[in-house]
Amino acid sequence: MADGSEKRGGVDPPSSFAEGANVTASDCESLRAAGWPACWERAAELLDWDRPFDAVVDDDGATCWFPGGRLNASYNCVDRHVAAGRGDEVALVWEGKLDETRTYTYRELYDEVNAFAAGLRDLGVGEDDVVTVYLPMVPELPIAMLACARIGAPHSVVFAGFSADALATRMEGADSEYLVTCDGYYRRGTALDLKRMADNACLSVEYPVEQVVVNRLDAESPAGDYHRYSDVVEANEGTEVEPVARDVDDLLFLIYTSGTTGEPTLVRHVTGGYLAHVAWTSHAVFDLGPDDVHWCSADVGWITGHSYAVYGPLALGATTVLYEGTPDHPEKDRLWRVIERNEVNVFYTAPTSVRAFMKWGSEYPERHDLSSLRLLGTVGEPIDETAWRWYREHVGGGECPVVDTWWQTETGGVVLSTLPGVDSMRPGAVGRSLPGVEAAVVDQMGKRVEAGQSGELVLTRPWPGMAQSLCEGTDWGARRTRTVDGEWQYDTGDKAVRDDEGYFHLRGRADDVLNVSGRRLSSTEIESAIIGVRGVAEAAVVGRADAIKGSEIHAFVSPASNVAGDEALRARVREAVESAIGAIAVPDTVTFAPSLPKTRSGKVVRRYLEAIANGEDLGDTSALRNPEIVGELESLLDE
Ligand code: WTA
Repeated sequence: MADGSEKRGGVDPPSSFAEGANVTASDCESLRAAGWPACWERAAELLDWDRPFDAVVDDDGATCWFPGGRLNASYNCVDRHVAAGRGDEVALVWEGKLDETRTYTYRELYDEVNAFAAGLRDLGVGEDDVVTVYLPMVPELPIAMLACARIGAPHSVVFAGFSADALATRMEGADSEYLVTCDGYYRRGTALDLKRMADNACLSVEYPVEQVVVNRLDAESPAGDYHRYSDVVEANEGTEVEPVARDVDDLLFLIYTSGTTGEPTLVRHVTGGYLAHVAWTSHAVFDLGPDDVHWCSADVGWITGHSYAVYGPLALGATTVLYEGTPDHPEKDRLWRVIERNEVNVFYTAPTSVRAFMKWGSEYPERHDLSSLRLLGTVGEPIDETAWRWYREHVGGGECPVVDTWWQTETGGVVLSTLPGVDSMRPGAVGRSLPGVEAAVVDQMGKRVEAGQSGELVLTRPWPGMAQSLCEGTDWGARRTRTVDGEWQYDTGDKAVRDDEGYFHLRGRADDVLNVSGRRLSSTEIESAIIGVRGVAEAAVVGRADAIKGSEIHAFVSPASNVAGDEALRARVREAVESAIGAIAVPDTVTFAPSLPKTRSGKVVRRYLEAIANGEDLGDTSALRNPEIVGELESLLDE
């Protein structure tokens, strides 16, 4: 095999990498030969089971993976590494403000997870009680997750950038009576208050909530009725909590995302299939092993952080890096400094960040020794060829394989990607489907389209990491899965093209979900916040292409009659979104419009608004009830 060489537009992995990879070409061949579902047994073998599973999947359509098995995620991520004599090795490295770091060995992680698990029990948390975790990127976040997993209490992590209202809705939606939060955190050197948000959320939840508060700021603990995290842990120092053996189908966690219609949706992940899937993909796609330092820069508040900053790397006994701050504070070389200092081997980030690094320039990575890196990855949105090449050249030293991984909150872990030691990489395309995953591009009727044609990306076989809600007969599940000519299909909501070599080229969402900086936001949730503003009659939000963020949020707002669409109203719209969801969802552009384009039945057609925002050709608008509005909106944007 050629060394990192290029042929037919593809880039081969260097032979040194290919030879030492966790999954080599011959492994891959035998996995593909074993086929679905048998090849997934390899995933389950990476875990320790309290009770062995009876089969890879159940007989009735693979809605349950590894039936009969029992296991504990916290045991798999912590205890077994200590038991194997690796207690002194580093599990977690945390970087906070400049030069502020904390390191946990597996033994220290074990002690704190146990103490906090005991503390949660003391507070009354029982098996299957949902604990909401509203924390920034501090070590207590993964510790709280693992403590919950230990006692069989599903966690529901809510991104710390979400507002009090968003937190309250998510707590109530999950019937969660316990909240782990903190006093505040640092952003660009400034302390932000989180406790006030948490308190406001608890006030609007209709039942009493027990709060545990981490002291992150070096300030005095705020007053109030709550338990201090440090007291809870201290009171239980040295206590060992037997990990609860969970059925494979028992919940590990809940997480909110936006569904196809752009509404916030609760996704449930189970213990067995999920953990096996993320452990396996960490092994096969990120090539991780116990000696690796892995840095997934995603916030743990999103699925990427759950799967590849916490559960995947820790299940394999690797070191995981957690970073609290932003990439450009105090300087634009901060990430490279973190990589150099911690000798990071595998770095996983979002294309939006890569585009920002590229804009800032190669002088920042060049200031640091990045030679510890051996593999790079991206996730969250398509990465274009220029950004891909820049990333490989300036961060990966022109050598590292780059895996473009496609997956979703619902899939739990990576399903489409190249295998770094096996496949030739195609900048701009994710790879084929992983062994044991079957994917296709279909038309609206669910029929396969030809190679090279655009269509909807579907997965045609279940996979272990699939969310429980996908196999239940819930309304939402029913909307996303269907049977076409006897074939089961899960509709991912993404548009894609499959080339004649089976590589998938992603083309963005086909539905109303917004993807801003690789983060999935709900259009409906933003619109309902805007519609709640006095003086607003209607609103619709769409994505507008942006060179760095992928898309920006563009809101079209129609004021009530006799209300002026002025700066004051614009400010109220922005404030309303910030307070209902958080700063990340605030529209970049607010265009006031006399009305919005609608079908004859009165439904707003976001597709036209999206074309208008992006300056694209609208095609035929005659099906609209009010086609004249389109020209008006276009001229408004031209002004
Ligand atoms: C998009 C994040 C192109 C896609 C793990 C998907 C991608 C949504 C890629 C899921 C990729 C993720 N190339 N698009 N490599 N990875 N996406 O649930 O639209 O936050 O449906 O999960 O991100 O976002 P979610």
